[in-house]
Amino acid sequence: MLTPTPQDRFSFGLWTVGYTGSDPFGGPTRPTLDVVHVVEKLAELGAYGLTFHDDDLFAFGAAESERREQIDRLKQALADTGLVVPMVTTNLFSQPVFKDGGFTSNDRSVRRFALRKVIRQIDLAAELGAETLVMWGGREGAEYDHAKDIRAAIERYREAVNLLAEYVTDRGYGMRFAIEPKPNEPRGDILLPTVGHALAFIQTLERPELFGVNPEFGHEQMTGLNFVAAIQQALEAGKLFHIDLNGQRGIKYDQDLVFGHADLYQAFALVDLLEFGGAGGGRAYEGPRHFDYKPSRTEDETGVWDSAAANMRNYLLLKERAAAFRADPEVQRALSDAQVDELREPTLSAGEGHEQLLADASSWESFDAGAHFGAHGYGFVRLQQLVTEHLLGAR
Ligand code: GCO
Ligand code: MN
Ligand code: MN
Repeated sequence: MLTPTPQDRFSFGLWTVGYTGSDPFGGPTRPTLDVVHVVEKLAELGAYGLTFHDDDLFAFGAAESERREQIDRLKQALADTGLVVPMVTTNLFSQPVFKDGGFTSNDRSVRRFALRKVIRQIDLAAELGAETLVMWGGREGAEYDHAKDIRAAIERYREAVNLLAEYVTDRGYGMRFAIEPKPNEPRGDILLPTVGHALAFIQTLERPELFGVNPEFGHEQMTGLNFVAAIQQALEAGKLFHIDLNGQRGIKYDQDLVFGHADLYQAFALVDLLEFGGAGGGRAYEGPRHFDYKPSRTEDETGVWDSAAANMRNYLLLKERAAAFRADPEVQRALSDAQVDELREPTLSAGEGHEQLLADASSWESFDAGAHFGAHGYGFVRLQQLVTEHLLGAR
């Protein structure tokens, strides 16, 4: 159970294990890893998928022959190991041309170039059988209020993604888009900063059914928000198309730590939700469990693979803990005392409207609101203590 297998659906970005340690204060601390080596190592560790940006696999501006060579090397490695590419994404942030964004750059020619770059990557996604195209708009934003007309930027964002949706529809590709929110970094403020902003934006699109979200654990926490609550809302809306798992310690720069190395309570609640929060106690989300983390810059290559394995092991450990938590009769009693299931019951009876509600004396005239003073505790704290005991292995 603690050994990862392809059924667990663990995937990694090529840029994650491939991170060479550069940060704004220093250059790389490790050499670049070759994609074939990465695929072999991930398969050996029990992952099922690899994801990448165009520029992770072949250099920006690479000649077509060079690009093709890298794609073919990747395809051979996939065939040799059985690893798949469930998602790809486009880099619209590293190159100087994108310093003011891609889809929402003030410069119209840059916006048109960005669209062409994404279309090129969509064609590759189709060639590799990727189901999801992630869109993380890291440079779509601004530092200064007068420098960017945010209303116009949102219109241009919509125009861009509508065009891309039309493209995949016309080509009959069948892939879907997942928007990844982030509040800031690298821009001072990024457009669509939270899951909620992205969900609202999706409703305004021409083909909303093709769009969902790719929430990242640490990004929601960078805003001080509750990641698990965001995931619940995305699930409820039928919009959880992909997920980026990692670790973050509070409101600060994007840490991209190993999943489980920060905020274990949220990690526990998340794994419990994804694995057992669906109908009949099954999975609430079937897609890839994608790790978008960075092996710390202090590590050598051994540390890179140890950290990759740690992400998967922590997930599986939490899954084991969540199963034990759910099976514990005392937990079941505490959940029932807390009336957690009762919230799933509609507030109105079948066919009931305001007239029937107004006619029901038990809802007002004879309802004893005063009885809730000094009594009718929900026992949420006791429930949380049981979570803690399971998390610490005390039960
Ligand atoms: C980040 C982001 C990125 C995106 C990736 C996909 O750490 O700020 O998560 O890693 O997920 O670029 O486009
Ligand atoms: Mn991140
Ligand atoms: Mn991410």
